[in-house]
Amino acid sequence: MQQFSNKYKGILLVLCFIIMSWAIVALTLTNDNAYGADAEQGKKVYAKYCVICHGAKGDGKGLMDVIHRNEKSGLVWSIYPRDFTVGTYKFRTTATGCLPDDSDLMRMITEGIPRSGMPSHEDVSLEDRKSVAEYIKTLSPRWEEEDLCDVIEVKKPDWVASADSIMKGEKIYKDMKCWECHGNEGKGDGTKADDLKDDWGDKILPFNFTTGTLKRGSSPENVYLTFTTGLDGTGMPSYEDSLNEKDRWHLVSYTLKLMGKVK
Ligand code: HEC
Ligand code: HEC
Repeated sequence: MQQFSNKYKGILLVLCFIIMSWAIVALTLTNDNAYGADAEQGKKVYAKYCVICHGAKGDGKGLMDVIHRNEKSGLVWSIYPRDFTVGTYKFRTTATGCLPDDSDLMRMITEGIPRSGMPSHEDVSLEDRKSVAEYIKTLSPRWEEEDLCDVIEVKKPDWVASADSIMKGEKIYKDMKCWECHGNEGKGDGTKADDLKDDWGDKILPFNFTTGTLKRGSSPENVYLTFTTGLDGTGMPSYEDSLNEKDRWHLVSYTLKLMGKVK
């Protein structure tokens, strides 16, 4: 009897050990998601890297903002650091009006946003990047109040950038009046361009997408996401409801042409 219960205890001990190691592995895995990261640690990372632009309260009024606002003479046009207290994000893989996915925040923090002053933070450790993503979520009540949206699936058809698709896209660009903001050649000089303001009341230019990298990135998939999700807060609308998926890909073809990426 004594012998049996010792053996029993041994098996129990081994079982406990296996379960605990699984738990530890599972915890490390869920930490891959920014949701598992430590917002307290993120606050320190924020103070070190982000506060200069995004401000102590996360309202976008850091030191750089003061400099930018003083440039408002009209000679220099600037984009202001994002105000995190509102919870409105431009570069999402989720539908318009939704909060961004964790992967969106991580991508913006890691890669930065070309031509906007938002730097890349590739040199910051993965754990610190995750924790700061978690921290900026504490700055807006939206993250507590709202359910998260699904990530939009992007599957590029193989006819994108074909001559026929470019032609169809050109007609859609005209019909949907993209030119009102972006101009006939995509140079950002449309009839409405001078009067556009973003949700924060600052002047915003419809991007000249014919030169350089796009803010979200210049791949066909990125351009597709821009039409589909809209850039919330900027006036750049979402066309998810007004154009079917095929037409949005035709529009990608034409935009790629205006960008000089296809002949
Ligand atoms: C040199 C100034 C600067 C620094 C430093 C900076 N940012 Fe930004 N950030 C910006 C600007 C400017 C924008 C707005 C870009 C735009 O609207 O095109 C921005 C936008 C963002 C966005 C919004 C992306 C979207 O989809 O709307 C996030 C998230 C962000 N920053 C996170 C951070 C975090 C986290 C840090 C610190 C690790 C940081 N930023 C450091 C200037 C900065
Ligand atoms: C009401 C004005 C307006 C209309 C209409 C509009 N856009 Fe935009 N668009 C903008 C603004 C403003 C930005 C820049 C936002 C920023 O820099 O943060 C932008 C940005 C873009 C970008 C660049 C995204 C990036 O990653 O940098 C592309 C591409 C684009 N628009 C294409 C289009 C196309 C194609 C249409 C028509 C289907 C269209 N837009 C309609 C205002 C508009």
